Amino acid sequence: MKKKITIFGSTGSIGESTLDIVKNHPDKYEIVGLSADKNYKKLLEQVRIFNPKIVSLNNKESFKKFKELNDNKNLKVTNGTDCYEEILDFNTDLVMAAITGSAGLLPVVFALEKGLSVALANKESLVCSGSLITSMAKLNNAKILPVDSEHNAIYQVLDSRNKSKISRLILTASGGPFLNTKLSELKDIKPEQAIKHPNWSMGKKISIDSATMMNKGLELIEAFFLFNIPENQIDVVIHPESIIHSCVEYMDGSMLSQMGQPDMRTPISYTLAYPERIPTNVEKLDLCKIQKLTFFKPDLNKYPCLELAYCSLKLKKSAPTILNAANEVAVQAFLDEKIKFLSIPKVVEKTLNKSSISNINSIKDVIEIDKESRNVTEDLINQGLY
Ligand SMILES: NC(=O)c1ccc[n+]([C@@H]2O[C@H](COP(=O)([O-])OP(=O)(O)OC[C@H]3O[C@@H](n4cnc5c(N)ncnc54)[C@H](OP(=O)(O)O)[C@@H]3O)[C@@H](O)[C@H]2O)c1
Repeated sequence: MKKKITIFGSTGSIGESTLDIVKNHPDKYEIVGLSADKNYKKLLEQVRIFNPKIVSLNNKESFKKFKELNDNKNLKVTNGTDCYEEILDFNTDLVMAAITGSAGLLPVVFALEKGLSVALANKESLVCSGSLITSMAKLNNAKILPVDSEHNAIYQVLDSRNKSKISRLILTASGGPFLNTKLSELKDIKPEQAIKHPNWSMGKKISIDSATMMNKGLELIEAFFLFNIPENQIDVVIHPESIIHSCVEYMDGSMLSQMGQPDMRTPISYTLAYPERIPTNVEKLDLCKIQKLTFFKPDLNKYPCLELAYCSLKLKKSAPTILNAANEVAVQAFLDEKIKFLSIPKVVEKTLNKSSISNINSIKDVIEIDKESRNVTEDLINQGLY
């Protein structure tokens, strides 16, 4: 029996890497559903190759254009977020959650409610809704398989029989494109410089998050909710080579880590094949060629976004939701050249200071707080108050 897969965000970097693996294992996987926001041309190509039963385009104009060009009469074409549940009514075994930002929350919620396994690339959904998501998975006996290379590494080496014997999780970070750039030189950084990651090829939003290290901050929060380890036992270490993808330290002094090339096809294939393993086209590591791996502490003065994420995690309740929403708006404003690179953390901090931290009891609360925080951030940006 082939595993049936639905990909939310199939036209993005993670979506395409997932399809690359599926294409190489036609005996193991088939595609049921695909989704995109605007990129109807890429979605059309994917439909021709993978022949899904249903697709969705979030953007109305792209949806119309797709319908005009699509000649597959058996394909159901849908639009908007309301159709996410309908997509999952088609028989699916595994959902790849690869939409960027909190826009990816609903597909994750619907999939978990249906008890489906979720390969979670969309870290923002876990950051903004935290234990609501993990409790939902538990309640419906649904698996969350982390795609993020760091969390995937931890998942691979975490000995669940000895969870109480874990002394520390260590998330490794590349340090992004400005690791060796002085803080004073970051003033006039342009979006095209910030999206050039030295090791990973990724979408624009996560690339900017890597440059500010908010990405590691979001991952810190993601690790806290995924693995249920106290925040003071989760550390971040800069490891510019991106070979060790993260580590679990046990009380007996053992430290287990997963290593591999910085290529998302490895963690993605792990989630698709789980609990098995499948071959990939990822180049194998040559340790003698690598020779040396380096590690050092991140400079929180240079990366204030990481400090903001630590603070939000300490505060808990709605703080991570506000942090995430403010960051999404600030990153988009930077990409649109409305604010400077160094203004991103300032805008996020101002939003956190202006917002009241409240309890989150439902996904409806998450959606409301996300929306309110976005409004606060947009106002701050429009009024230049940062
Ligand atoms: N890329 C990586 O190596 C990597 C590694 C770890 C984790 N992640 C996480 O994986 C997620 C995806 O990252 P990515 O790099 O693949 O991003 P990406 O290349 O920008 O792709 C994003 C995907 O989501 C779709 N999308 C964007 N906004 C949407 C909306 N409002 N509604 C519906 N669909 C929307 C896009 O459609 P269009 O193409 O039509 O715009 C595209 O298919 C992020 O949460 C990221 O943090 C990525």
